[in-house]
Amino acid sequence: MTRPTLQQSHGPAYTRIYSIGAARGANAVPNDDLVGPINSSDEWIQQRTGIVTRARAGADVLAIDLATDAAREAIERSGIAPEQIDLVIIATISNVQQTPSMAAVVADRVGANPAAAYDTNAACAGYAYAVAQADALIRTGAANYALVIGAEKLSDVVDPTDRSISFLLGDGAGAVVIGPSDTPGIARTVWGSDGSKAGAVGMNHTLTEFRDGEAEWPTLRQEGQTVFRWAVWDMAKVAKQALDAAGVTSDDLAAFIPHQANMRIIDEFAKQLKLPETVVIARDIETTGNTSAASIPLATHRLLEEHPELSGGLALQIGFGAGLVFGAQVVVLP
Ligand SMILES: CC(C)(COP(=O)(O)OP(=O)(O)OC[C@H]1O[C@@H](n2cnc3c(N)ncnc32)[C@H](O)[C@@H]1OP(=O)(O)O)[C@@H](O)C(=O)NCCC(=O)NCCS
Repeated sequence: MTRPTLQQSHGPAYTRIYSIGAARGANAVPNDDLVGPINSSDEWIQQRTGIVTRARAGADVLAIDLATDAAREAIERSGIAPEQIDLVIIATISNVQQTPSMAAVVADRVGANPAAAYDTNAACAGYAYAVAQADALIRTGAANYALVIGAEKLSDVVDPTDRSISFLLGDGAGAVVIGPSDTPGIARTVWGSDGSKAGAVGMNHTLTEFRDGEAEWPTLRQEGQTVFRWAVWDMAKVAKQALDAAGVTSDDLAAFIPHQANMRIIDEFAKQLKLPETVVIARDIETTGNTSAASIPLATHRLLEEHPELSGGLALQIGFGAGLVFGAQVVVLP
């Protein structure tokens, strides 16, 4: 008996980002509101991080609500009907429920039910990871149109007395619609991990420790200098590899959109990449703070609002964070 040959799917040769949407926490929280319990100052935070205010959501708004708002804007601008979206990926580390995923609920809320839907946890690299997945899944024919969202409400996982990271963090969501393209719109992703440095940034306790009364509510902590050095040295190399993988140089870029972790890291990247003056650098951290998986799409959204002429240009984006994990790729801006 001859075995039947399985059918395999094949998708389009290329994909691109069609549109972008964003939602930020509604409250602008200035440094002065946070400095008391960490014995810090507005001046220290501005000098060391570039943050002036961070966006934080009220108690009645969840990460999933921010994700929904960002997704609706992206879909509306995409020209794609929500029912054509057959894949929804949400990058997040701050869903307050371990299951169900935010993605399944958001897919339903925006009219994309019954799209394949799942959340992905790659911290501040989550958006770059999710873009890589959407691009690959569309090109194999596993999906036609993808909604990719980075969504965080990090204020749910901060300890106001922690001076290692809490003052950096904000709330928001950024979303893109990705679909087939006649020309390449998402270059190969350079991505990876280093779990030997898992302790450098992440939650300070497990949920079971919290349940058993052995620990407080788990919150984010980091070894700031370890992460800073890793970001500046190793991540600049990854950014260069992403340019090589795309077959372009920094002179070809219209924009540079790094994870919004620290303005000094962003400046150091710009130096090491020898970015020409013409490349517009995303500096959304100043008023949004670090929003982990949401930071790159939020920064992209703001860049395109302030510089609409960048549309259609090349952007290098790089995410890096807890894991440790990293992901970088060159994309054509919507
Ligand atoms: C967290 C971070 C802003 C701290 O800045 P830094 O310049 O590295 O600060 P250091 O830890 O070297 O501390 C320098 C001094 O500031 C003090 N300090 C540390 N945190 C402080 C705070 N929140 N407020 C005021 N002073 C602080 C330290 O006590 C130290 O004082 P000393 O010189 O008297 O000993 C920085 O390390 C950082 O941004 N790291 C990477 C962030 C990141 O990318 N995270 C990724 C997760 S997404």
